[in-house]
Amino acid sequence: MTRYTRTAVWLHWLVALVILVQVPFGWYLDEIPRGTPERGWYVNLHKSIGLTLGIAIVLRMGWRWRHRPPALPERMRAWERIGANATHLALYACMLIMPLTGYVASNFSRWGVKYFNAIQLPPWGVDDQHVYAFFNGAHVVTSYVFVALIGVHALSAVWHACMHDGILGRMSLTRRG
Ligand code: HEM
Ligand code: HEM
Repeated sequence: MTRYTRTAVWLHWLVALVILVQVPFGWYLDEIPRGTPERGWYVNLHKSIGLTLGIAIVLRMGWRWRHRPPALPERMRAWERIGANATHLALYACMLIMPLTGYVASNFSRWGVKYFNAIQLPPWGVDDQHVYAFFNGAHVVTSYVFVALIGVHALSAVWHACMHDGILGRMSLTRRG
């Protein structure tokens, strides 16, 4: 069966792995008391990982745009194809919205981003609580949608693995050919 290229597979797993760390890290931020230096340190780390992830995601999408994915197996039913394509599209949308809303929100607060707690990226927006709350709210709401989609996606992968239909192998790091 045809499979994703080596680059597509590595980009998929690299980005997926960092997202699977970044999401619980975001939840952990809720536990850190506001106004403490500790919070600033962790929030900046979350922002820095998020921005770096955003760049990796754009690169991944650029690669995807220029390289057609392998065709889905003929035996897959219409609803399965529609479901897979819709989920992938929605995952890409969330992968863009998450870093974008986080970054834009940060620029409407006086803190901006201190990249890896070393390089200050001064905010280009005004310090406006309402604008910040809007983009931050979008960040939080999208994170729930994202987690739900990742759950559906991972469960479908497990289902395909149980069916031994070769779909998982298309994105496998080890299987060649
Ligand atoms: C943060 C987590 C993840 C994200 C954002 C993500 C995203 C995506 C996207 C967007 C695609 C479509 C690739 C394309 O055609 O451009 C894809 C494919 C795939 N993913 Fe994930 N993924 C994640 C985690 C996982 C996990 C945990 C598994 C396995 C348990 C998995 C297994 C697969 C497989 C097998 C495919 C290929 C499907 C096919 O052959 O059409 N992914 N993933
Ligand atoms: C793919 C990238 C990203 C993911 C997956 C992600 C995920 C999350 C999650 C799950 C939360 C917790 C939401 C909740 O409270 O339920 C969060 C919070 C937060 N994120 Fe991100 N994030 C990403 C990128 C960014 C970026 C680039 C920035 C800023 C430059 C950022 C800034 C923040 C801030 C400030 C919070 C705390 C919000 C609050 O407690 O009010 N994130 N993020």
